[in-house]
Amino acid sequence: MKQIKDAPIGVFDSGVGGLTVAREIMRNLPYEKIVYFGDTARVPYGSKSKETIIRYSRQIVRFLKTQEVKAIVVACNTASALALETISKETDLPMIGVVEPGAKVAVETTRNKKIGLIGTRATVKSGLYQRVIQKEDPQIQVIGQPCPLFVPLVEEGWLKDEITLEVAKRYLDPLLAQDIDTLILGCTHYPLLRSLLKGLVGDQVTLVNPAYETALALGRMLEDKGILREGKEEEFPYRFFVSDEEEHFQQFANSILPYDVKTTEQIRIEEY
Ligand code: DGL
Repeated sequence: MKQIKDAPIGVFDSGVGGLTVAREIMRNLPYEKIVYFGDTARVPYGSKSKETIIRYSRQIVRFLKTQEVKAIVVACNTASALALETISKETDLPMIGVVEPGAKVAVETTRNKKIGLIGTRATVKSGLYQRVIQKEDPQIQVIGQPCPLFVPLVEEGWLKDEITLEVAKRYLDPLLAQDIDTLILGCTHYPLLRSLLKGLVGDQVTLVNPAYETALALGRMLEDKGILREGKEEEFPYRFFVSDEEEHFQQFANSILPYDVKTTEQIRIEEY
């Protein structure tokens, strides 16, 4: 059993954004090892079809299996919304996405039963957040708003820029006009806009961060399965893989992780 507990967790995303999920796992489950894969050659997933996202996700799962991971976290909201259901049936590894943990906490948070959801077009259109929420409480109204400009703004590092604020106002005004009291940050990049968005929506609206909720849900899942790694911190138990050049990934990683990422390995994901 020791070997399974000691194995890393596979975390994947369409690119750099899933590092917000990896960061929460590092903070909340500090003994866990992580193998992260960012599909930087094929990002964005948010504007692609379900079939394509499933095909890409399958290849990534095959790659992560070669790394002997004990569980897989689908850190990408778009892949969680469109591919997780299919790919989790095809493997015996425990798998968790970011949509369900985020949606469930939003249900516990809302008082007036009006939840705003922001994410990629594909995530909002998939209706998965809506389904999970309404399964818990059919009275809750979910108002979705795709925010496709946020991803490039975050990758540009414009986290507090006035242009980002203007864009955010445009996207969020219709949600605020509908009196939401809870807002789900349903895309990997959006937690990095947390303080800008909080300033905009004010104290009446609670922000839900699926990245954080997923790290907690992952801890519960590993514990239930008896495969949580305990009490043996290692110096840098993380490995990073990408499908395109490493430089941008490494810069982004070093800007948001509490560690200095010195090496990122490039692989040919199409071969898996
Ligand atoms: N990682 C994606 C998500 O969370 C955002 C970037 C993309 O469109 O691939 O939905």
